[in-house]
Amino acid sequence: MKKLEKRARIFIIFIYLLAVTLFSLTFVYMPSLYRAGQNIYTVSLLSLFFIVSLMVADRFPIVYILRSSSKAEVSVAMALDIAIAFVFTPIVAMSLVVLENLIADAIHKKSWYKNLFNASLAAISVGLMSILLNRFFNVTIPFLSLYNMLVIVGAAFVYFFAETFILFGLLSIINKATFFNFWMENVKTIWVEIFTLIPLGIMIVYFFQKSPWMNLFLLPTFITIYYASMRRVQVEEETINALFTFAKAVDDRIPDTMQHSVRVANWTKNLCERLNLSEEQSYFITMAAKLHDIGKLIIPDSVLLKPAPLTDEEFNMIKQHPIKGDDILNHFSRFKDGAKIVRHHHEYFNGKGYPDGLKGESIPLGARIISVADAFDAMISARPYKNKMATVEEALNKIRKAGGKQFDPIIAEVFCQMVREKVAEDEYVKGKEFFPVLND
Ligand SMILES: [Fe+2]
Repeated sequence: MKKLEKRARIFIIFIYLLAVTLFSLTFVYMPSLYRAGQNIYTVSLLSLFFIVSLMVADRFPIVYILRSSSKAEVSVAMALDIAIAFVFTPIVAMSLVVLENLIADAIHKKSWYKNLFNASLAAISVGLMSILLNRFFNVTIPFLSLYNMLVIVGAAFVYFFAETFILFGLLSIINKATFFNFWMENVKTIWVEIFTLIPLGIMIVYFFQKSPWMNLFLLPTFITIYYASMRRVQVEEETINALFTFAKAVDDRIPDTMQHSVRVANWTKNLCERLNLSEEQSYFITMAAKLHDIGKLIIPDSVLLKPAPLTDEEFNMIKQHPIKGDDILNHFSRFKDGAKIVRHHHEYFNGKGYPDGLKGESIPLGARIISVADAFDAMISARPYKNKMATVEEALNKIRKAGGKQFDPIIAEVFCQMVREKVAEDEYVKGKEFFPVLND
C-alpha cells in the first residue's frame, strides 16, 4: 500500500470505513438472518451453494485492458451477486460476498489491502442492492409484476453504479485521470457484459422462486457469455498486436534503424512520466509512438532505402507517411485518438512542419513529445542517406537549439535534461536498449 500515492490510500481507507459503516447500520436496523420461509438449514445450504458457485465463476474472469495500462476484470460472478442480494437478507448477503472475496483473494495471494478493498467493494454494492430488494420487493404480488420488476431493475442499477464508481474511482486516482471521463471510457469497454449479466442475475432469482434446479438451464448461457467475451477481448488484443507487427515490419525494412519505433516509444514513455502526464495519456501517447511510422508501409524501398539525398518528388512521398498512418489507424476505434498524434508527429512548433502546418500548442501534445524522441533517435542512428551519426551530446545540442522552432521548447528542454541524467548514470545509449522495453 505504501507504493500508492496519498490520495489513493485515503480513498481505499474511506471505502473500508464505508463498508464497515454500512455493515454496522444493517446489523442494527435489519439484523434478520432469514427471509420468509428460511431457517438455519436452508440458509446454510444456500450459502454453501453460492460460495462454491462464486468461487467457480471467479476462476473464469474476463480481463479487460482499460484505456490505460491497468486492467480490470469482469466475471460472470456479477450475476450471482444479484441473486445473492435477493435470496438472502442484507446482513447474510454482505457476509457471504465478503467471505468469498477474502477466501478467493487469499488463494490468489493478492496483497492484503487489495483483498480488503475488493471485499469492501462487494459488501457495499451487494449490501445496498440487498437492502433495497429486502425493503421494497413485494412478495405478496407476482414476481413479474411491473412494480417488482422496477424494484429489481432499480436495485441492479444501484449495484452497477456502486461497483463502477468505486472501482473506477480508485483506478482514476491511480492513473491520475479525471474521474468522469475515466468512468465513461471504461464503462464503454465493459457495458455489454455488465448489461447481459444483470438480467441473467434476475433470471437466476426468478428460477429460484420457481425451482432452483431450473438454474442449470442457465449454465450454457453463462458459458456462452464467457467465451463470447473472451473472444472479443482476444480480437482486440490481436488487433493491437497486428498493428505493432506492421510497425515492426517498417522498422525491419531499414536494417540500420531496427527497433526504431520501440526505442522512440521507450523515450516517449519516460518523457511522459517526466512531464507528469496521467497514465492514461502516457499510455496513448506511447502506443502512438510505437506506431508513428506505420504509414511508411506505402513508401517503396527505392525511396525508403535510398543511399543518397532524396529528390523533391521522393521527399514529398516520404511526407505522405503521417497522413497514411492516420488513415490506417482511423479504421481502429481504439486508436482514433492515437491516429491524430501520428498524423502530426512531423509538425514544427513554428508551423513549418508537415502535413498540415499546425503551429504551437495546436499540435497535439503527444505529437510534440514523439517529435523530439523521434528526431533524437534518428540523429543518433545511421540512416541510408547519411553516413555520419551524431554523438549523444551533438544530438542534444541540436534539439536544444531547435526548441521553439522545430520542437516545443519546454518538452525539448525536459528531454535533454532527462537524457543527460541517464548518460550521467552511465547507461547504454546507442545500439542497445536505453530503457527497458515496454510490456507488450
Ligand atoms: Fe515519421
